[in-house]
This record gives sequence, C-alpha cells and structure tokens, in this order.
Amino acid sequence: MSINFESMDKIAEGKTKIIYRNPEDEKTVYMVFKDDITAGDGVKHDVIQGKALIDWKTNRDIFELLNKRKVRTHYISSPEEKVALVRKLDRKINLEVVSRRVAAGSILKWSNAVEGQRYDPVITQFHYKDDPLHDPMLDDAYIDYIIRAKNASEYAEMKRINEQAFEYIEAAFAHFDVQLIDIKLEYGIIDGEVYLIDEVSGGSFRLWPYAHKNPNLNQDSVLGELNPDGRLDKDTYRMGQSTDMVKNKFAEIADITEKFKDV
Ligand SMILES: Nc1ncnc2c1ncn2[C@@H]1O[C@H](COP(=O)(O)OP(=O)(O)OP(=O)(O)O)[C@@H](O)[C@H]1O
Ligand SMILES: [Mg+2]
Repeated sequence: MSINFESMDKIAEGKTKIIYRNPEDEKTVYMVFKDDITAGDGVKHDVIQGKALIDWKTNRDIFELLNKRKVRTHYISSPEEKVALVRKLDRKINLEVVSRRVAAGSILKWSNAVEGQRYDPVITQFHYKDDPLHDPMLDDAYIDYIIRAKNASEYAEMKRINEQAFEYIEAAFAHFDVQLIDIKLEYGIIDGEVYLIDEVSGGSFRLWPYAHKNPNLNQDSVLGELNPDGRLDKDTYRMGQSTDMVKNKFAEIADITEKFKDV
C-alpha cells in the first residue's frame, strides 16, 4: 500500500523536497522528492519530469552506504519511490559544509586556486545558507571567533563528518572510474548530537570521470587525469545544457550509485 500524503501535515516545502509529519511517529518525517531543479541559489529554475525519481535513488544509495559505514546521518529508509523516511530534526544548522578534493567551481573565483589542483587532505569550508546573499563563505577567523565565543563543538563535528562522508563517497565512485571533486552537505541537531541531514544527490557534488584507466591521482594537479567535459553533475545544468542532457547525466549517477551496495 502506498503512503497517502494528501491527508498529511506538510511541515516544509523547499526547492527540491516536501517534508511531511509522520502521523505514526513524531520522531521521524517523510521527505518527498520533487522534479524541480534550480541553480544560482534559485535564480535558474526548471522542472525535469523524472528527476525526483532519479535523485531519490541516488540519495537512497549514498545514505545507505554512509549508514553502513557508521556515519551519523538522519536517514532511515526509502519506503517507496520518491520518498525517504528520516529522523526529525530538533534544530537545523543554517550552514552548507563544503569539502573539496580538487579545485573547481566557485573556489577558482575567490582564491588563487587553479582548476584541477588537488587537496590532500581535503579542505572544508562553511557557507552561511542564504539564497539572496549567495551563501557567503565564513572565513576561518570568524569561525574561530564563534567557536571560542560560544564554546561550540558543532563545527569540529561537522568538519569531521563531512570529511568522513567525502572519503567514503569518493572511494565508492572510484570503483567506477569517477572522481568526486567536491561535495556540499547539511547538518542539524537530533537528540543533542550533530547529524548529516537533507539529501545527497546530483546537485550535491561535482563528479568527473577519469580520463583514462589507472590515472595518477597522487599529484598536485590532476586535471590531465580527469575528464571535466564528461561531468555527470549539476554543472551540466548550470552551464546551460538541455534538460534532457541533465536528466541523462543524473540517471548515469544513479546507475553508478545503485552498485554501491556491492563495494
Ligand atoms: N531530518 C529532517 N527533519 C526535518 N526537516 C528536514 C530534515 N532534513 C531536511 N529537512 C528540511 O527539508 C527542507 C529542505 O527542502 P529543500 O532542500 O527542498 O529546501 P531548499 O529550498 O533547498 O532550501 P534549503 O536551502 O533550506 O535546502 C529544509 O527546510 C530542511 O530543513
Ligand atoms: Mg535544499
């Protein structure tokens, strides 16, 4: 029997998901994926038929991998197509936490990083979540100030979980000759602890296929080892590719993550 959302209480509706109260358990909520895709903090927007189902699959496979690896996430299960059951947040943390292995995207604009430059260990940055302000990055001095002023342990926890999640997802994609370039994840507090929340899908990361078999990824620049033009992620949408093309790329991601259960 399928879940009847018509009769359920909508807690929140965002750009890509609707959150419903679970009438049978106040400690959990349902996340329902939508076909909408946005970029530029909501400025660019389209509806791609079938995207919800694809993102739901990717999200399911990645969270199941992370839970299996004992990463602390809100994810419980995916009871039916386009629906995930998750632990309910007590408090949302209004940050996006970005970890990067390879320089690409916005970091090229605001630092002297060169595209393809490799970070080992990965670097992690915190962005204040605010669409009209375009999610500004918080600098280290400011974060240190907050940590000292509030005696906050959450930043260290988010950084730890983000880097742990990055490395597990990177290792899983490596089995399929694809490099995880960077990832953006979100956090909240559940039962007094920091949890990885929200979704992980085609819009959460950059993914570049290897340029050839057995690349040498252990060098300062890995641009020559990877094929950015074959990217599978939401940059295809940001760069103006057709929505059919974007959908095909997202479907390729889901075809790969489906095999994560065997890695
Ligand atoms: N475990 C959870 N419990 C309750 N709400 C959650 C949980 N995980 C995510 N959410 C909520 O789901 C909503 C996310 O929906 P969506 O991602 O579509 O929003 P959005 O428009 O992208 O906005 P945002 O920029 O806040 O992500 C947010 O309001 C988020 O707080
Ligand atoms: Mg969101």
